[in-house]
Amino acid sequence: MSTFLIISTVWAVVALVLLTVAWWLARVGKTVPHRIIMILLTVGAWVFIINYIFGQRYGGGGSLPREYIPWMALHGSMGLVPLIGATCLVLGRLMTRRNKFSTHFNRHHKAYGRTFIVVWIFTHLGGIFNAFFLR
Ligand code: HEM
Repeated sequence: MSTFLIISTVWAVVALVLLTVAWWLARVGKTVPHRIIMILLTVGAWVFIINYIFGQRYGGGGSLPREYIPWMALHGSMGLVPLIGATCLVLGRLMTRRNKFSTHFNRHHKAYGRTFIVVWIFTHLGGIFNAFFLR
């Protein structure tokens, strides 16, 4: 298994655990740890994606069997949904009451949060699947 796949799998497992804990914390009203975990996960996701893009561009990432390309395109596109969504939720909270953007995302935080967390979990499960079937 390549170093990248090992790092991706470890990140996927850590993120799955943290997402579940953060969701539970939000449900029981523990906002401060929920906030810290979600900010860390969002920053971590950006670091992971940027590293992935640069790795593919300059690290010469291995070639992929043709039949996996549609799945990888779906996996990557789906990953962008919680990445951009979580960023909007975090920015919304950090800019509370400062503009319409934050008002919108804060008013619908729960609904957006539940949607993005589910897609996020599904994306990481896809990442773990990739690690085992594409190694
Ligand atoms: C600065 C970052 C964040 C803060 C301060 C924060 C704070 C909160 C608070 C106070 C709640 C309680 C309900 C409400 O006020 O609407 C909540 C709920 C929730 N948050 Fe966050 N949150 C943050 C980031 C995120 C992110 C990035 C996500 C997901 C991508 C997320 C997912 C959720 C979910 C799913 C719930 C609802 C839990 C439930 O009742 O099912 N949060 N959050």
